[in-house]
Amino acid sequence: MDTLSATGRAALDRVAHAFTEHYGGEPALGARGHGRINIIGEHLDYNLGYVLPGAIDKSIYFLARPNGTRTIRLQALDIGRSGQIDLDRIERSDALWVDYLAGICRQFTDLGHELPGLDIAFGGDLPVGSGMSSSAALECGMATLLNHLTGAGLSGPDIARLAKKSSNTFLNIPCGIMDQFASMMGQDSSVILLDCRSLDYETVPVAMGEYEWLLLNSNVSHELGDSAYAERVRECAQGVEILQRKYPEVKSLRDATPALVEELRSAMPVNVYRRCHYVTEEVLRTQRAVLALRAGDHATMGELLLQTHAGLRDDYAVSCPEVDWLVDRAAADARVAGAASWAAASAGARSTWSTARR
Ligand code: GLA
Repeated sequence: MDTLSATGRAALDRVAHAFTEHYGGEPALGARGHGRINIIGEHLDYNLGYVLPGAIDKSIYFLARPNGTRTIRLQALDIGRSGQIDLDRIERSDALWVDYLAGICRQFTDLGHELPGLDIAFGGDLPVGSGMSSSAALECGMATLLNHLTGAGLSGPDIARLAKKSSNTFLNIPCGIMDQFASMMGQDSSVILLDCRSLDYETVPVAMGEYEWLLLNSNVSHELGDSAYAERVRECAQGVEILQRKYPEVKSLRDATPALVEELRSAMPVNVYRRCHYVTEEVLRTQRAVLALRAGDHATMGELLLQTHAGLRDDYAVSCPEVDWLVDRAAADARVAGAASWAAASAGARSTWSTARR
């Protein structure tokens, strides 16, 4: 997906201008990290189920040039900050945005690649912390840049795996692979049906007919490092442990069903039950959504989105009043087929999705 929207072009121009202003001269190379949306299959990636994300044309743009030192110097336009990474000691700092990039550097050095010192400016048209995965865009943009520079020859899925590993191990964020995979592998006018266990995937064209997708920014910011995300991951793992006592073949919640969860309900703490209930229902909904999308059945798709939102709000407890309000308003509009919050992480969510008739 290489098209540049008007806001993308303006963002790239800003980055080019800032590069010259801060470092002088012209950049030697560039890379782009895409934001992403997920239609349905929320919180299924770390439960090893199927998700249905796509890359969007809102991105973060990186421009860079080797500087002949052992330091990567960074100018982050969107937040007006500068930072640096010492290539001889790639460690966590007190700035999470630097650490997202340092983590990627660490992955490359762990693979045995020698990294050159660089001057980098970056920025984009992707709202930060709004559920469109600006963090995966940061990681994937940086990894793409280093992939070119080192000649490492990593494929898109390799980079997605590398970026997830960086989040999991360097930043201690237990995210799944959906965001990084969508950022790297998304294509125009389609979404990706990704099996988060095998990483097999196929692209599904999004033919919306008289409908279109609307993406609304609630302007409520969130941060994936928030403890609630890690808590959901732990609660799901606890659910798997309980289910496994009776059904050892359940390796992740993807292998369970709503009926199994009901059967073992009394063995589960109430929150664990609610998380497992949501996830096992969402697994089924995602399968139905793929059929609906392929058949152009927008009414069913809309209904499924509303059910997902209800599950995220009531069982998974990751929505927020602002997004609930947007979804309720959308659902009450006869032109709208359905809507879901599309909640990345912790309680206090972000953006919402609707399918609306044009
Ligand atoms: C965040 C994580 C993803 C995924 C989603 C929820 O975006 O980075 O791995 O878990 O939340 O679907």
